[in-house]
Amino acid sequence: MPRRLDGKNAIITGAGSGIGRATAILFAREGAKLVLADVNETNLGLVKEEIVKIGGSVVARKTDVSSEEEIKALINLGLEKFTNIDIIVNNAGISGVLDALEDQRSEEWHQIFDINVMGPVYATKHIIAHMKARRRGSIINIASVAGIMSGAGGNAYSASKAALINFTKTSACEVGASNVRINAICPGLIETGMTLPFFEYARSTGKEDRLGKYCELKRAAAPEEVAWAILFLASDEASYMTGQAIPVDGGITASMSVPGRKI
Ligand SMILES: NC(=O)c1ccc[n+]([C@@H]2O[C@H](COP(=O)([O-])OP(=O)(O)OC[C@H]3O[C@@H](n4cnc5c(N)ncnc54)[C@H](O)[C@@H]3O)[C@@H](O)[C@H]2O)c1
Repeated sequence: MPRRLDGKNAIITGAGSGIGRATAILFAREGAKLVLADVNETNLGLVKEEIVKIGGSVVARKTDVSSEEEIKALINLGLEKFTNIDIIVNNAGISGVLDALEDQRSEEWHQIFDINVMGPVYATKHIIAHMKARRRGSIINIASVAGIMSGAGGNAYSASKAALINFTKTSACEVGASNVRINAICPGLIETGMTLPFFEYARSTGKEDRLGKYCELKRAAAPEEVAWAILFLASDEASYMTGQAIPVDGGITASMSVPGRKI
């Protein structure tokens, strides 16, 4: 039976944990050849091993996405190994702190923007000529519901994800005529390395039932539930979709949380 990514080669950043790891495993199962990147070399190696075990074709390279040189080297590795790159999932990200405005430091804002915004910008910049020349390519940026509305992260994080959503739209419009598609996924509350402290705190204090309770599905999600949406955008099934920022959030952005109206 044909698999959904047979014949396609994909780069995934932040592949050592959470949503990136789940996406890498799903993509491998669906036939993609993979170039995986993360700053955490140990976790990256473990994910690579998992993929080799299920018969996947994979290379991995320690990469800090905030470095344009390292992104260039990652893309070159992919092109050397697999000749073409069809898909990039710009997933690596950090959440930063939740300090009050008056306590925020410019270094933290710069670090969040360097990773969450400039990482995807560098990857797009350095792959786009290749994708345009082949008239095929799908770039998926992992943004957040925090980039759409307030209340899901610190303001540097939220602003970085809003910037990533707009970068997704403006660059999609620039390259659409070349049949290159660029979309974003906006996850809600997902249990990953990033959110582990919230989950551990809730479990240790008997408040587990509160996790995700403000979304319409009344629960948090597993990273695999986001990976399925990323797979769809990466595949030819999404051939007429570009410039979109799609929430995968249990419905939290579908409703205003008016006090007294929600149970
Ligand atoms: N978990 C959630 O609830 C949630 C919600 C909305 C959006 N997101 C987004 O999903 C994406 C994946 O996060 P996750 O939740 O799986 O978290 P995670 O912490 O489990 O995974 C993120 C991975 O990115 C890597 N990384 C961090 N900085 C990097 C850098 N400079 N270069 C390369 N790799 C780097 C980390 O080592 C880690 O392996 C992020 O962009 C995050 O903002 C997560």
